[in-house]
Amino acid sequence: METVTRIHPLRERVSAWRQLGLTVGFVPTMGNLHQGHFKLVTEARQRADRVVVSIFVNPTQFGPNEDFANYPRTPKQDAELLDKAAADLLFQPEIAEIYPSGLNRSTVVDVPQLSRILCGAARPGHFAGVATVVTKLLSIVQPQIAVFGEKDYQQLAIVQRLVADLCLPTTIVSLPTVREPDGLAMSSRNRYLTEAERAVAPTLHRTLIGAKERVENGDANFEGIQQSGLRILESAGFTPQYLAVVQANDLQPAGAASRELVILAAARLGKARLIDNVKATRKPS
Ligand code: PAJ
Repeated sequence: METVTRIHPLRERVSAWRQLGLTVGFVPTMGNLHQGHFKLVTEARQRADRVVVSIFVNPTQFGPNEDFANYPRTPKQDAELLDKAAADLLFQPEIAEIYPSGLNRSTVVDVPQLSRILCGAARPGHFAGVATVVTKLLSIVQPQIAVFGEKDYQQLAIVQRLVADLCLPTTIVSLPTVREPDGLAMSSRNRYLTEAERAVAPTLHRTLIGAKERVENGDANFEGIQQSGLRILESAGFTPQYLAVVQANDLQPAGAASRELVILAAARLGKARLIDNVKATRKPS
């Protein structure tokens, strides 16, 4: 697998593939790769002739008091594993390559309707940073497909919306969350957990499953479901930011007529901020 750090050689490789009639699949990441990421790479491998993976810890999606400086960076290990996973090209740019006008002067892509709620309420500016970098990366690589995880459900909804709104010629493919055997969603940030916190962490997924069961058994008291979920998380030692039962398509609060739902939560546990979600389907009454 070849690694490139500049846009120009990346474009040359991709256009050579295009001229041969080969399709390109793309998996954007921030590195410190785990099995969740590799599931995306395998899917891209199956759906496209050539696979590009990017590793870029994007500064504009981190708030001033967030973990940009400490975000786990394991480039050597990532490149070795991507090679084994048969990725064709690793794009690992410097910040100036992606933000040539500077971080604060760059054009911003914003999806306001989906970016101010849920995680966006707790992390102002985060999703504009995500939407901007994903737009740039899609514009650089110009893949036929790009693969994202449902683990970051709100991010996925925002990416789908921006691709539709900006008429980008890429099909977004999404994959279910890859979990540890005890249910904890795999995440680069799980390494911030102490041993004791790691033992508590699966409670987040269990709480969401409990809420899903209530919803699927016909309980329409969404406010009550949210409040009891938050209480369970608090008594387990989390500091929850939200637990919300929303419509799967537009992330708006669930109502009596809503059928396809997603239940999302974000909570701090020690130094880690954990997010997770599960889907729930309500039967017509
Ligand atoms: P990162 O957190 O590295 O995640 C890269 C991709 O892997 C995302 O699509 C994410 O949803 C997916 N992913 C992470 N954990 C997963 C899991 N346990 N199961 C399945 N998929 C999982 O998300 C980002 O980076 C950035 O915001 C990015 C999109 C690269 C923009 O900077």
